[in-house]
Amino acid sequence: MNKKAFYTELHRDLSALITGEPDLIATFANASALLFERLEAVNWAGFYLLQGDVLVLGPFQGKIACTRIPVGRGVCGTAVKENRIQRIDDVHQFEGHIACDSASNAEIVLPVYQGNNIIAVLDIDSTVFGRFDSDDQHGLENIAALLSQHIS
Ligand code: SME
Repeated sequence: MNKKAFYTELHRDLSALITGEPDLIATFANASALLFERLEAVNWAGFYLLQGDVLVLGPFQGKIACTRIPVGRGVCGTAVKENRIQRIDDVHQFEGHIACDSASNAEIVLPVYQGNNIIAVLDIDSTVFGRFDSDDQHGLENIAALLSQHIS
């Protein structure tokens, strides 16, 4: 299956999974499970929830992770500070990267919005350098947009 078809199916399945569920944690919990199950070579998928100027660990799948990331720190905190997606081919080259799992080599972090405000980030890690290309970014942008619409 090509990536376009893969992400179309993923979007459809996530939509079906979260439709009718108003609770944020329940929505993010099943979203992280679906992403972790479907995406290849992914060793962590989950959410950090923005509380003031700190990102606090939310629902995820993968190894134990750091619980608090200040805005501006790490890949996640940079996504919030710059209000844009961070797609990192080699996390070891990213200054300030926070290594929760030493097996991680690539990462993508996408803001999730309620209205115009970031309320969380979706963080996905991979053991494969350069795992996320522009097609993955586009597909995951649509996933993050679905979540943003769902909670707005
Ligand atoms: N690597 C992230 C920290 C979170 S873990 O990857 C789960 C970062 O630098 O923000």
